[in-house]
Amino acid sequence: MYKKTDKSDNRVTINTLAKLKQQGEKFTCLTAYDASFAILLDNAGVDVVLVGDSLGMVIQGHDTTVPVTMEHMIYHASCVASNLEHALLMVDMPFMSYTNIEQALKNAARLMQEGGAQLVKLEGGRTQLDIVRALADRGVPVCAHLGLQPQSVHKTGGYHVQGRTRDAAQTMIKDASLLEEAGADILLLECVPDLLAQEITSNVTIPVIGIGAGGNTDAQVLVLQDILGITPGRPPKFSKNFMAGKGSVREAIDAYIQAVKNGRFPAEEHIFS
Ligand code: KIV
Repeated sequence: MYKKTDKSDNRVTINTLAKLKQQGEKFTCLTAYDASFAILLDNAGVDVVLVGDSLGMVIQGHDTTVPVTMEHMIYHASCVASNLEHALLMVDMPFMSYTNIEQALKNAARLMQEGGAQLVKLEGGRTQLDIVRALADRGVPVCAHLGLQPQSVHKTGGYHVQGRTRDAAQTMIKDASLLEEAGADILLLECVPDLLAQEITSNVTIPVIGIGAGGNTDAQVLVLQDILGITPGRPPKFSKNFMAGKGSVREAIDAYIQAVKNGRFPAEEHIFS
């Protein structure tokens, strides 16, 4: 096991992220599902660690995130939480764990109390406003996930870039504002055209994290296994193998952080138009 450094006085909060947005400084997010990678990311200075329900694919070997349960999320979140001293811990609410206010409050509380989450992420736009408001009113920090929503993949029929038509783009712009008004602290945009992500990022005052959303969001997130080049099959267009030419996992993570902060990632070839 890696030795942890003492960064406890340097903990990232949602206020830190809001300040970074105001200052025009990019911040970084990567996924982790276990203690070893959590410590590596934390020591490297990643700002937000996401225990994503992508663990359904990355850890469990499923085709989608749909089979992931609350118990899985709590287990992996708790493996990560106790090993972070710097990064903010964001945890996904899994499929069907927030279908009404009562259920969402109960499950968000479990992710925070049993999993150690400091911010919960849920998918959906205007249909989630009451849930986001209920969570926010009770002191639960929320990240609202717009654009490609992997939990709906069986309904949408695949993993496609979202917001390409004028109507879909207008709906997403409006949803982003409504979610901010409802109390969301962060937005995450997945697989949306560069210009749309740019417009949403400048329309809202809360920080926007992008994945496949171009270079103008306030932050970037990628799946750790993708940047280490160990995801089986063809890597997603929006990702980059930062392990190439590097001697260690830590060097690859450092390169990702630098590239995001300097605006060198994402490059043209990672962006949707
Ligand atoms: O589950 C996850 O890892 C995610 C990211 C891909 C944004 O939601």
